[in-house]
Amino acid sequence: MTGDMAGRGTVLVTGGTGKTGSRIAARLAAAGFQVRAAGRRPAPAREVERVRFDWDDPSTHNPALDGAHRLYLVAPAGAHDPAAPMLPFLRRARKAGVRRVVLLSSSAISETDGGLGEVHRAVREQFPEWAVLQPSWFMQNFTGDHLHAHSIRAHDEIVTATGDGRVAFVDVEDIAEVGVRALADERPHNTAHLITGPEALSYGDVAATVSRVAGRPVRHRCVAFAAMRDRLTAGGIPERFSELLAGMDRAIAGGSEDRTSPVVERVTGRPPRSFADFAAAHAPTWQR
Ligand SMILES: NC(=O)c1ccc[n+]([C@@H]2O[C@H](COP(=O)([O-])OP(=O)(O)OC[C@H]3O[C@@H](n4cnc5c(N)ncnc54)[C@H](OP(=O)(O)O)[C@@H]3O)[C@@H](O)[C@H]2O)c1
Repeated sequence: MTGDMAGRGTVLVTGGTGKTGSRIAARLAAAGFQVRAAGRRPAPAREVERVRFDWDDPSTHNPALDGAHRLYLVAPAGAHDPAAPMLPFLRRARKAGVRRVVLLSSSAISETDGGLGEVHRAVREQFPEWAVLQPSWFMQNFTGDHLHAHSIRAHDEIVTATGDGRVAFVDVEDIAEVGVRALADERPHNTAHLITGPEALSYGDVAATVSRVAGRPVRHRCVAFAAMRDRLTAGGIPERFSELLAGMDRAIAGGSEDRTSPVVERVTGRPPRSFADFAAAHAPTWQR
């Protein structure tokens, strides 16, 4: 990390209680930045200031932006049209004096798409300093509270509509590290970062690795698009968002995510974590 921390104002971290946001907030605070974590739940770390922030409640937006010069932007969870609240928020951010925005998007969303693609364009066009993180699928989708984790624990299976398609799964820690650099480096990155792990793997490959570290067979069961959509909806994901996610699975089956990127090593100076390493460290999460 370069540069001094004085006179930069506050870094507002939306999604500050989430997977990337909580890690980014904690690391920036440890590096001496003044950090404000925004979300509906309490902030995870004591050294981070907390502000109540709800995408659905615009009265919480200006107080969160007060004194902020830099902004980490995470979309509202499960929204099929995240641009609707995010574009007006970016206008408020400009007015409030934010100069640098780092947006969390996805490797599956390009800036010519609607939704987060529209937010990507706005960030690039409207702020002098910016970066867009476009991570591949998170390794953490297989741990904690995620549907795949439940399904592994309860049924020894991972269910997707991805066929033999491959994805370069990435550790959220690596995404957070790139995000920290994009927010903290003195020189703005002013680019989109495609962020992947070191190798593209099928869900069958993932199931084989999980089987090995969990000590019992776990399989990949491939279903059709409609069955996947209905399964996600039954798991509590809003219907239109389930449709989007199942559509992404179908694109993976067609090879859309079969690629790796050098960004983690280029930006952070060290290679991204492999799934085998991640799985070995998280084996207890899959044990019954
Ligand atoms: N999972 C993947 O494989 C993957 C891959 C690529 C990109 N992404 C992108 O990563 C982003 C984050 O996904 P995630 O599943 O990892 O979630 P997360 O960041 O772990 O959790 C979502 C965060 O957003 C906050 N939030 C949600 N709804 C909110 C609302 N209405 N108002 C204010 N804050 C709200 C939550 O805080 P509170 O609950 O405290 O409000 C939480 O901090 C998504 O945009 C997703 O498209 C995910």
